[in-house]
Amino acid sequence: DQAPVLTIDGPGGAGKGTISRLVAERLGWHLLDSGALYRLTALAATKHDVALDDEPAVAAIAETLDVVFLAENGEARVLLEGEDATRTIRTEQVGDAASRVASLPAVREALLKRQRDFRQAPGLVADGRDMGTVVFVEAPLKIFLTASAEERARRRQRQLREAGVDASLSSLLKEIQARDARDMQRSVAPLVPAEDAVELDTTSLTIPEVVDRLTELLARRG
Ligand code: C5P
Repeated sequence: DQAPVLTIDGPGGAGKGTISRLVAERLGWHLLDSGALYRLTALAATKHDVALDDEPAVAAIAETLDVVFLAENGEARVLLEGEDATRTIRTEQVGDAASRVASLPAVREALLKRQRDFRQAPGLVADGRDMGTVVFVEAPLKIFLTASAEERARRRQRQLREAGVDASLSSLLKEIQARDARDMQRSVAPLVPAEDAVELDTTSLTIPEVVDRLTELLARRG
């Protein structure tokens, strides 16, 4: 009787964000960008001068996070405590802070219910690191999306260039590898494919190819 969930987990830069949004649009399903919740928690902690390793204090912030997700004219925006945080949460600095607060068990626990509340009819596409292993363990279809670190660095560079930011490939590659290591080695909810996940390497696939593949898989699993 619960709405169906498609979980899409994987390392940063594998294309999860774009793919999840397009699949959700095609299906007319809701979208959970769980990384945004960790980014918003980190940003709120910084705003309130809370140290990123102060577990109870950061967990309290996660618990009471005042966020509103908006979709206006097909454009997604997010408000943190009433202020537009859409762009701020996408910076490398906030991404790095997010992966730090994400290693705190009490913070992950505090965000669990908020994430599960996104599961509503007609269905949910859940994008993250532990959607299939922790948050939606009973999801009928779980995808683990990967791409080589080099390809992810190239994609990130292209994205930044479009935003008018210049970054060297080698520094981006280093950041990606450091983030991967932290996400995979943490003791709570480490980044690993769920046992029943379908792994899809997107290194040499285009975005429409991946979207097609996922909607086909979903139709087959029914
Ligand atoms: O996916 P995104 O880059 O926005 O996520 C930011 C950080 O939040 C990740 O590096 C990861 O440490 C953390 N995260 C997580 N669990 C999730 C989603 C994100 O630990 N489900």
